[in-house]
Amino acid sequence: MKQNWNFRIDLVRNYLKKLQLNPEIIEYYKGRTVYISGGAGAIGSNLVIALSILVGENGKIISMDNFSSIKVKTPWNTPPLDNVMFIEGDVRNDQSLKRVFKEKPSLIFHLACFFANQNSIDYPEESAEVDVMGHVKLLEYANLVNIDKLVYASSGCAIYGSYPELPLKEDFISMHLTTPYQINKMVGEMYNNFYNHHYNLPIVNCRFFNSYGPGEVPGQYRNVIPNFMYWAMKGKSLPITGDGSETRDFTYVLDLAQGLIKAGYYDSAVGENFNLAAGKEISIKEMSETVNKVTKNSSQLVFNPRRKWDTKPRLLASIKKARDLINYEPIINFDEGFSHNVDWFKDNWEDIERLSDFKPGMNSAVRKKI
Ligand SMILES: NC(=O)c1ccc[n+]([C@@H]2O[C@H](COP(=O)([O-])OP(=O)(O)OC[C@H]3O[C@@H](n4cnc5c(N)ncnc54)[C@H](O)[C@@H]3O)[C@@H](O)[C@H]2O)c1
Repeated sequence: MKQNWNFRIDLVRNYLKKLQLNPEIIEYYKGRTVYISGGAGAIGSNLVIALSILVGENGKIISMDNFSSIKVKTPWNTPPLDNVMFIEGDVRNDQSLKRVFKEKPSLIFHLACFFANQNSIDYPEESAEVDVMGHVKLLEYANLVNIDKLVYASSGCAIYGSYPELPLKEDFISMHLTTPYQINKMVGEMYNNFYNHHYNLPIVNCRFFNSYGPGEVPGQYRNVIPNFMYWAMKGKSLPITGDGSETRDFTYVLDLAQGLIKAGYYDSAVGENFNLAAGKEISIKEMSETVNKVTKNSSQLVFNPRRKWDTKPRLLASIKKARDLINYEPIINFDEGFSHNVDWFKDNWEDIERLSDFKPGMNSAVRKKI
């Protein structure tokens, strides 16, 4: 069971070439020791590759993950790169964190989380344990060493509550959150603000929107694009929750990695929170039809009631603040990003199928009790 890493590494190299990072950013990362929590995850695995390239042979990436997002505990999504040190461990566990912090990272990217909304509804206590207690523990360790930045993976769907105006801007605050995941992500930002204010810990809150791209294995609790790809590859009907007119701001995973890299560099980002998104809306129906087309799936779309917690018929982020603060600019449009996603999916289909975590009869998108 081995992933075709050349494809993913080339994808990241080509992305960085196209991005043309400012030479000062390239210099800033060279030779650093960087800790990425959740480094075997959908976004983390891409960030590991990008930062491994940027820190170079004199630098080191420490990636820690407990493999809870996939069915089989395996480092399948951990790129085998010389300057990457992988630790199988848990952000709630002191022994794991001691192993990480013994390496004295100067930058931290905290992506590990109990993913995501429905999972947190089904397992609220573990969700809080990982996303609140694990997070505070990590902040305590980070406070013991000298770090230049701690970049936190927050979530746009979590922060902006139920009925905000579009496009979503950072200054909107809502107390109407609909899942424990959303609450815990919001709490994570609040703890970050506390540690930043009280201890001057240099923290940056990045609010992601609907990531997609190579690296995400489907599963009961995963995002809609990998899951629809999975069902379509099996010739099954795609189960839309709603009427399909709902929109999401689908963001290519390497554009998110770009935002993280820049957030880790710019001092102006410290103590701030900002959206990282494509800044474009795509309807679920349009996305589903694209999935069916590329997989030659002729099964009809199926429409189910929207899930009770899903109170956001449209998601569209303003990316003005990220543009202004960290010079963020998405460079991959949906068609291109989606085609990379499809290539990766087809190329690794046997492994993806084996690692996809769908409990029998438990597709959360079509479950009756919602
Ligand atoms: N994917 C999205 O669309 C999206 C949107 C908004 C925010 N985010 C945030 O971005 C981050 C990364 O998301 P992702 O899509 O890569 O998710 P993911 O589930 O693929 O990655 C998270 C990784 O953390 C690991 N993990 C979970 N609990 C852990 C623990 N206790 N100790 C160590 N590792 C643990 C998982 O095994 C997984 O590999 C998360 O914090 C998520 O909340 C993601």
